[in-house]
Amino acid sequence: MALERIQVTAERHPVSGGPRGMFLLGDAVERMEGLLGEYEGKIKLIYMDPPFMTGDRFYMRVRVGEKEWRQGKGSFALESFSDRFDRAEYLAMMRRVLELSRRLLSDEGMIFVHLDYRAHPHVRLLMDEIFGEDNLLNEIIWVYQSGGRSIHHFSRKHDVILFYRKSDRYDFNIDAVKAPRDKPRTSHMRRHVDPDGRVYRSIRSGGRVYTYYDDDPIAPTDVWQDLPHLQQKDPERTGFDVQKPLALLDRIVKCASRPGDWVLDPFAGSATTLEAARRNGRNFIGIDRSPLTLNIARRRLTGADYSLFLNNENRPESVCDAVVHAGVGFYHVILEGFSTDIPGLPELADPLDIVDNWSVGYLRSDGYHVMAEFARSKREGALARELAVPAYAGELALCASDITGISHYFALPR
Ligand SMILES: C[S@@+](CC[C@H](N)C(=O)[O-])C[C@H]1O[C@@H](n2cnc3c(N)ncnc32)[C@H](O)[C@@H]1O
Repeated sequence: MALERIQVTAERHPVSGGPRGMFLLGDAVERMEGLLGEYEGKIKLIYMDPPFMTGDRFYMRVRVGEKEWRQGKGSFALESFSDRFDRAEYLAMMRRVLELSRRLLSDEGMIFVHLDYRAHPHVRLLMDEIFGEDNLLNEIIWVYQSGGRSIHHFSRKHDVILFYRKSDRYDFNIDAVKAPRDKPRTSHMRRHVDPDGRVYRSIRSGGRVYTYYDDDPIAPTDVWQDLPHLQQKDPERTGFDVQKPLALLDRIVKCASRPGDWVLDPFAGSATTLEAARRNGRNFIGIDRSPLTLNIARRRLTGADYSLFLNNENRPESVCDAVVHAGVGFYHVILEGFSTDIPGLPELADPLDIVDNWSVGYLRSDGYHVMAEFARSKREGALARELAVPAYAGELALCASDITGISHYFALPR
């Protein structure tokens, strides 16, 4: 029997303890304006990796069905976002995002804006105006080696990350990101071994002797060469074209926030910042306007206490069949069928290949509370057809998310 479709705008993943967070589907400016009421002056760290005015369109190869999940390769390409702007339109959007960022940051807060050679000079001027030139802390150069080599000019192998503080009360923690040197300092230094077997170097200068242990942690400079870009087969890859490495966000999260602080990424993409925040015990808020990012966020945020805020725009028609069996203290829900219209979709081996993840939960006054969920993964490419949820009072509901990231909600009969 086809289930009754319902509208849901908040999907809750309640977990007790640990970091809290949310992912808001929608436009960065609109969603940040919406955050002001509750979060003005409360965010410790903002990282953003906005469009760079590259003129490109970015795609995501989504995996459809068990075989593609097991092989780790998707055959169906969907546009994740378009980076085609004229400069005035781009800068007007960035101005608004940066003004809102400043209002959302606490006085101890910091902001990192990730750009490339095209956008960074323009955005730097905007940030000088909005945050004040004196509040520029670094122009970080992130160097990577991936990709080919150009013969027309020197290959472009770095991004620029503009790092500003909100005020001179900023709470920067360099100790949290110190690491042993890649290569020991050797030039003109004498090598020694101390009684514990640790290697150190010494140099005499101006009548004083300076010593450096090889394994002493040191602070990174503003040129980051030790954090490689994700390789094609990197297990961290989600399929999202412009995904940044977790190690990069880990450094930023650790030096510019403390456990329990709020971290915001208004162009969250594949949720890298949110995962880095979650792993480090920070609370997180992500915003993105591409529904494709929701399926990735659901996987990367598993285990955190988080909510997804959706919009109901352009949600296509869909039909779902499921049956509910009452067990002792549990309901067992079996997904029997699901269909929706996805233009250009190749022929499916199984009609349920269109489902990327699904869940069962209860409708409450503040949204749909997920009680059991399944998302395909490399290990579990085949769709689990049955989920069990504890028997509570309240309206039982089901959410099926299709491969484009659109979530479809249905009431379940009992
Ligand atoms: C470069 S990607 C971010 C990648 C991310 N750092 C990661 O590691 O996956 C930029 C993201 O901004 C989103 N985006 C572009 N314009 C937006 C807007 N006006 N509001 C919200 N999100 C937007 C795109 O959908 C895309 O996911």
